[in-house]
Amino acid sequence: MQNDLIIRAAKGEQVERTPVWVMRQAGRILPEYRELRASLSGFKELVETPDLAAEVTIQPVDILGVDAAIIFSDILVIPDAMGLPYEMIKGKGPHFPETIKSVADIDKLRPIDGSELKYVYDAIEITRKRLNGRVPVIGFAGAPFTIICYMIEGQGSKTFSNARKWLHSEPAASHKLLQKITDATIVYLRHQVNAGVSLFQVFDSWAGVLSEELYREFCIPYLNQIADAIQEVPSIVFSKGAHFAMNDIMQTNYNAVGLDWSLNPAAVRKLNPKKTLQGNLDPTVLYGEEAYVVEKANEMLRSFAGGSHIANLGHGVYPDTDWRKVKLYIDTIKNHTI
Ligand code: CP3
Repeated sequence: MQNDLIIRAAKGEQVERTPVWVMRQAGRILPEYRELRASLSGFKELVETPDLAAEVTIQPVDILGVDAAIIFSDILVIPDAMGLPYEMIKGKGPHFPETIKSVADIDKLRPIDGSELKYVYDAIEITRKRLNGRVPVIGFAGAPFTIICYMIEGQGSKTFSNARKWLHSEPAASHKLLQKITDATIVYLRHQVNAGVSLFQVFDSWAGVLSEELYREFCIPYLNQIADAIQEVPSIVFSKGAHFAMNDIMQTNYNAVGLDWSLNPAAVRKLNPKKTLQGNLDPTVLYGEEAYVVEKANEMLRSFAGGSHIANLGHGVYPDTDWRKVKLYIDTIKNHTI
């Protein structure tokens, strides 16, 4: 591997400069992605065609100069493989024609052996071959709680109140569902590792709708099972909005913890100085003037001083961001030596 900065930083080893990648770097913001996407029948066709998925995975490495490629897929392939297919509706986002409405629906979900998601591993292998060691490939999966949000709600939501309702009114069934998803996620990530990912991230995008108590009961045990099961490569956990749970998250067995922009890196670092931290520029900074983007990127770097750091945004880049500002952010980080 010519550039293994991100792997070393994730493990807490010495690096010459802070590595950088951007959540949701593949897709949306790049004209090259939009052009390819427009020629296809839909999002799923892109995700399920390994050759094309590999192509869009590599685009941000070529165009933006990031230090890692994240495989082009979606967290929703897990419910899909378990028997709850998703659709991606233009301008609206994901939609599940069928959702989990009863305990019987949980029993109907299939355990996976991994073969259902072969297209993802094929895309990883093609990407790795084409990258030829330029940068590592990051694998990923959704955290079990974030996945049940979609399985129960059937679509996006501001509050995911139907999913939260289940945690209170059907706690035993909720645990059963979370365990099924955890088992499938472990099988899936193990196959990703075998196909050649050098690290993986677990996205708990909707953790912020919970409380400390619910997070401790319904998230931490499952996140830990995943980290404990996949030890071959370093891991990152990103629980967006879960500021109330940072102490618990900093004690999990992930090598690195992603921070959103609302968190103070120095304060989080004190909870466990050995952990690598990832983040956390507010993605809306990238709508500012060039000089402002540079100033804020440098400020962000300084705020992570005193321990290992992987630079990123505090959440995914927004679709209408000018990709040149994203590149400016990345160049600013790369021009900085520690
Ligand atoms: O660079 C990358 O990160 C690309 C791979 C990737 C996608 N989705 C592609 C995608 C990754 C890592 C994801 C993760 C994902 N998917 C998450 C967790 C990350 C986060 O942002 O919190 C979540 C919650 C989803 C579910 C999902 N998929 C939503 C809510 C949407 C619609 C809104 C949106 O983000 O566009 C998607 C669709 C989706 N996933 C697109 C892409 C490129 C846009 C679809 C299109 O091109 O038509």
